[in-house]
Amino acid sequence: MNQQAKSKTEQNLNEAFAGEAMANRKYLYFAKQARRLGNEETARLFENIAEQETAHAFSHLELIYPAKSLTVRKLLELARDGELYESNQMYPEFERIALEEQKPQAASEFVAQARESAEHAEIFEQAAKRFHALAKVEAIHAGRYEDALKSLDKDNRARI
Ligand SMILES: [Fe+2]
Ligand SMILES: [Fe+2]
Repeated sequence: MNQQAKSKTEQNLNEAFAGEAMANRKYLYFAKQARRLGNEETARLFENIAEQETAHAFSHLELIYPAKSLTVRKLLELARDGELYESNQMYPEFERIALEEQKPQAASEFVAQARESAEHAEIFEQAAKRFHALAKVEAIHAGRYEDALKSLDKDNRARI
């Protein structure tokens, strides 16, 4: 993603969002581990706080992607672009470094996830296309409906 065009506060919002979102997933993972270790109380504590981290992450998202600026098409395109960034830039670069540092397990994990990100990008892309086609059909229907209303109006006026 293009960080240069962003103000420092926008960058900080992104970073804060990433931190809160990460805390959410991390605590859910910790909860799973605590449960595995037989400590239900700690597992529940992690799950409870994880939920609050989601709320924190959502507050940041509301400022990063204000509701007013969004359409369904925009949502799908934003999601597609994020997945494309992961599959085309982030994971290939991480894989390269993992190989350089002789961490083959991490390298193959990055390769596998790059592939999955590419699949997700394609799913979002197809959904955006379907949505676009649907919006066109709906516009045609709306136009026909309007024409029908107009001619009905004309008929009515002719009768008066
Ligand atoms: Fe938090
Ligand atoms: Fe993904």
